[in-house]
Parts: sequence; structure tokens; C-alpha cells
Amino acid sequence: MARKIVAGNWKMNTSYEEASELAKVLSAKSAEIDDDVDIYVFPPYPYLKHLVDVLPSRIRVGAQDCSADANGAYTGEVSAAMLASCGVQAVILGHSERRARFKEDEALLHRKIIQAQKNGLEVFFCIGESQDILAGGASCVSLYHEKLLRALDNGVDLNKVVIAYEPVWAIGTGKSASATYAEEQCAFIHNSILKRWSIEVPILYGGSCNPTNARELFAQEHINGGLIGGASLKADQFLELCRSF
Ligand code: PGA
Repeated sequence: MARKIVAGNWKMNTSYEEASELAKVLSAKSAEIDDDVDIYVFPPYPYLKHLVDVLPSRIRVGAQDCSADANGAYTGEVSAAMLASCGVQAVILGHSERRARFKEDEALLHRKIIQAQKNGLEVFFCIGESQDILAGGASCVSLYHEKLLRALDNGVDLNKVVIAYEPVWAIGTGKSASATYAEEQCAFIHNSILKRWSIEVPILYGGSCNPTNARELFAQEHINGGLIGGASLKADQFLELCRSF
């Protein structure tokens, strides 16, 4: 049966108190969500261990990034092994904000994916076109996605990867992709992965996803749920998204 996944990417938001409060509400209400929905939250690094400790096991805790290196003199970096040792189960890699601001490319992301998987972390790998690439037309968008998927070559276990399709122009803009357009892109990504690696990988939609547009998006054949930014910071909205299948 196809997986149903709702994942909250808290980005660089919330104080410790706000994060704890959000976790408290999610804990209290998570039993109301259907068992077949996999729920993840991706809080900032300093809150990870606390959230692992206080959230019920059905809400999995993930990090928003990890180092491409195993350990050593990399000031400020956090290794996949450290995350795993704190009970973290997943990691977002390749988010467009990191690609744009920190110049993360396919080669670096490949190394991060390998580190994450060596330490048993499930990888949420983000891809999605910018406004400029969108303006180049459909074949430009497809070529770009094919290129980004190269980070999954050479030794990546595709069974432990979730793809998040997040068109950059839809992230944090309030302008979500239409369900038809998102489905077209997710079907393309699904088929490219199937052709290249003979495996079916769950694909999430991300980009201004909220309780108003989620039901139509999540009903699409190749969309398994959502990676949610803004709306994941409000407990009632996030829980509503978990009920949107
Ligand atoms: P948004 O962010 O829901 O606020 O658009 C999604 C994301 O960047 O993962």
C-alpha cells in the first residue's frame, strides 16, 4: 500500500518554549490521526533531543541537514552519527534554501546522503525548479530534475529515500502549485526513478501546502503527502494536514 506521509519542516523558527509547546499539542492530539499516516517533524538542531524524548513514537523526529563528513575538525557541523545517537530518525537534504544560500550541489549532497544512510537515517531529498527554470518550459524543468536526481546514484539505498518535490517559486510564497501541475511533475520524477533504479519511491509535495489545498494535492496518484513549512508551525493546521488524505 502506498505510504501516506506528512512532515513538518520548522526551518529556523520557534524558541525552545514555542517548540516545546507545539510538541505538547501534537503529542496530545496525534492519537486522533489515522494509523496509516506517517508523521515527521524536523525542528532546529538544539531541540532535537528534547523532542525525541517528549513526542510519542509515532511522530518521528528528523533534522534539517547533516554534515557530508563523518567527524573531525569541522566547526559548526553536525554529523549524521550524532543525530542518530540522539534518536533522530530522518534528515532533510537538498532543500532549495540550502542549495541557494549554501551552494549545495549534487556532489556534496551525494556525500551527505551516504553519511545519513550509513547511520540509519531516512533521507527526505528535496528537488524542485526555480521560477527561471519554469520559464524555460517543460523540457527545461524535466532536465533539471534529472540532473538533481544524480545525487542518488552510486551506492544510495533508494528504499530509504523519500523525495520532496518542492517548486522553489511555491515555497513560502502562498502560491501553491496546482494539483494538476504538481501531479505532472511528481509522475515525471516517479517514472525517472523507476526507469533508472527500478524502484518506487514515495514523493511528497511541498510549497505553500495548507489545509485548504492539501486534500486535492494528496489525492493525486503520485503524491504521497506533503513536506510542510509555514503551516507546520501551527499545531491545528499541521494536524488538519495529517487528516487530509
Ligand atoms: P512552505 O515551505 O510550506 O512554507 O512553503 C515548504 C518547505 O520549504 O519545505
